Parts: sequence; structure tokens; C-alpha cells
Amino acid sequence: MKEFTKHILVTGGAGFIGSHVVRRLLINYPDYRVINFDRLTYAGNLQNLKDVDTAPNYVFVKGDITSQQDVNKVFSDYGITDVIHLAAESHVDRSISGPMDFVLANVVGTVQLLNVAREYWGDFQNNVFYHISTDEVYGSLGDQGLFEETTAYDPRSPYSASKASSDHFVRAYHHTYGLPIRISNCSNNYGSHQFPEKLIPLIINNIVQQKELPVYGDGKNIRDWLWVEDHAHAIDVIFHTGKNGETYNIGGLNEWTNIDLVRRLCTILDDKLNRPSGMNEQLIRFVTDRAGHDRRYAIDASKLTQELGWSPSIRFEEGLEKTVDWYLANTDWVKHITSGDYTKYYEQQYALRKS
Ligand code: NAD
Ligand code: DAU
Repeated sequence: MKEFTKHILVTGGAGFIGSHVVRRLLINYPDYRVINFDRLTYAGNLQNLKDVDTAPNYVFVKGDITSQQDVNKVFSDYGITDVIHLAAESHVDRSISGPMDFVLANVVGTVQLLNVAREYWGDFQNNVFYHISTDEVYGSLGDQGLFEETTAYDPRSPYSASKASSDHFVRAYHHTYGLPIRISNCSNNYGSHQFPEKLIPLIINNIVQQKELPVYGDGKNIRDWLWVEDHAHAIDVIFHTGKNGETYNIGGLNEWTNIDLVRRLCTILDDKLNRPSGMNEQLIRFVTDRAGHDRRYAIDASKLTQELGWSPSIRFEEGLEKTVDWYLANTDWVKHITSGDYTKYYEQQYALRKS
């Protein structure tokens, strides 16, 4: 049997970003065994990895990070040497309607993993516990300035509060027990395989189906968008060359108001769907704002760029077009992932926002 040099537990590997991380590790590091550990919630989908799931270094284990039994078992069955932790409840709107799921998955689940890793690894020889987090822990910016690694935490949604809490636990395990860790906080990702409740795939799919396009509030909230494969690349770089105990911000200096982004998607799709110019924009509806809606996120990633040499690989215009093409070519994937209760759930939520 092949000897692997590392046995990396990737939690949440069946989700959007996790599947890109798993794919990158499988392809670039055949000497590593990649154990994708995922509960397969509504957001997790093994079809995301169907192009690589026969790789000899890939293993999938269905399990829940909140379960001590599941986590203990995967560590001992596969001799886990490192963790890249992405599993989480990730959608802000769902955290507003049901915060407890976020406390369980994001806080309790992270602490469960930390406990088992600490116990299993003992003297922490060459292990890494890498926690993937979000820029939302820093709160909301005014017109000027960028989030830096030293920006004080100010989470303002149940989602960001749960992620901030998990970040604090990861740092506490480093300071208290010496657990070797890294943390990264990334801005909004976009690209293939993102669950279509998030802004970009939601708008693409609604345009395709000629459904209304919900824009929250005045549409002037700003997000800083990063190509998901650039995030996976940054995770690879930080995992391999980041310093023990350090935090790295990840982002592409690519700020867009939501309304400009939605309009851009309308224009791209007028063209690709051969619709008259301006037709898709007529679907835009300004709807009730998200409660506590953060106004602006923007990331300063200069530490990562200067210390570890990472930089984004593609321009937003190109990435957006590739993303649109992927969704147009993968309508079966969309149908599959939104089957079950999702469509009904979405229609109910949308009706509430319009009323
Ligand atoms: P996602 O919702 O697409 O995927 C989350 C995955 O975690 C799913 O496969 C789900 O089945 C799994 N999961 C959830 N609860 C679990 C549990 N209890 N046990 C095991 N698996 C469980 O999320 P994503 O957008 O890919 O985000 C991944 C990570 O990156 C999250 O930690 C998120 O906070 C962080 N992040 C996301 C973004 C973004 O723009 N999407 C930006 C920065 C950071
Ligand atoms: O910043 C990183 C975060 O980005 C991640 O940590 C989260 O996991 C991820 O979901 C994302 O959070 P956002 O709340 O920024 O993403 P979302 O796609 O839900 O919304 C993007 C913006 O678009 C936000 O300002 C709300 C707005 N929006 C969203 C939806 C779903 C709309 O106007 N209409 C919509 O229908």
C-alpha cells in the first residue's frame, strides 16, 4: 500500500469552497491522503467532486463535526496528521432566522475538532490545524479603509458571531495548549459549485428562469469578491508556508455594490441568452433589507501577498463570465442541489421580503 506523507482531514469538503480545496490538494499533492469529512447538509453535495472522486488519494467520510464519536473515529481510522477546517453553516440569512444551527455547527463543531486534534496529536510534532474564517468577523466598514489582521473583532450577525467565536477558540487552543494553528479570514467568494442561495448564483439562476431578482435595501451595500480557486490557492499557500499561530487576510481588492453587480450579470446574460439589451434588468426588485445588513466589506491582503507571495490570478470580469458559463452548462447540478425543500423555502422567504 502507498505510504502517504500527510493524512489531511478537510471538513466541509463537499461544500462550495471545500470542494475546490479538496480538488486542488488531490491534483497537486498525490503524496497526501485527503479525507473529506462532511455531514452533507443541504449545502453539501458529493457531485461537486465527481471529476476527482476516483483519485487513489481521496477518501470520503460522512460525519458530523459536532459528534465526538464521529470525529474520534475519523482521526483514528485515518491517522489524521493535519486539519483544514471549512465545515460550517455559511449563509447569513439563515443565521438570522435560525441562529442555533450556527452555534452548534460553527462553535461547538470547531471546539469538538480542536479537542480531538489536541488529544490525538499529543505533542504536536508536525501537525497543522488550519481554520478557515471570514472577513465578516471584523464587522462593517464606512466609505474608507480596509480590514487588516489587527482590526478589532465586531461581528454583527449570528453567522459572523459564530465564526468570531470559533476563531477565538482556535487562538485560545494555540495560546493555552500550544496547538499549531493557522487562521485565514477571506472576503466573499464566487465561482462554480456555489449553492444558489448566495447572491451571484441566485441572480444567475433567477435570470435564466426569468424570475424576479431580489436586491436587499438600496442595493448600495458593498462586497469584495474573490474567485474561489484563488481562495483555494491561498489556503494551499498558507497551509504550507504560513507561520504557526498567525492569521492571514485573503481578498482581491475587488469591491462592488450589489446593484452594480446584479446589473452586470443582467447585461452578461442578455448577451448569452440572446435576449434584447436591458430585458433582464426589468426583473430587478428592491426588497426588504436584511436585518442588521453590514454596509461594506473590503480586505487588505498585503500580509499574505508580501510574506507568502500569493496574489489573485484572474480579473473579476473574466471570473464572472466563467461563473455564468459554468451555471449555464450545469443546469442539472442546479436542479439536483435545489431539489428537496429548497425551492419552497426560497419562495417563502422571498414572499416575506416582498411584503
Ligand atoms: P457551504 O455552505 O457551501 O459548505 C459548508 C459545508 O460544510 C457543506 O458541505 C456542509 O455539508 C458541511 N457541514 C455543515 N455542517 C457540518 C457539520 N456539522 N459536520 C460536517 N460537515 C458540515 O460553505 P462555503 O461557502 O463553502 O464556506 C466554507 C467555509 O468558508 C465556511 O467555514 C465559511 O464560513 C468560510 N468562508 C466562506 C466564504 C464565502 O464567500 N462563501 C468566505 C469566507 C469564508
Ligand atoms: O464576506 C464573506 C462572507 O460572504 C462569507 O463568510 C459567507 O459565508 C458568505 O455567505 C458571504 O456572505 P454575504 O452575506 O456577504 O453573501 P450573500 O451572497 O448572502 O450576500 C451578498 C450581498 O448581497 C449582501 O450584501 C446581501 C445581498 N443580497 C443577497 C441575497 C442572497 C441581496 O441583495 N439579495 C439576495 O437575494
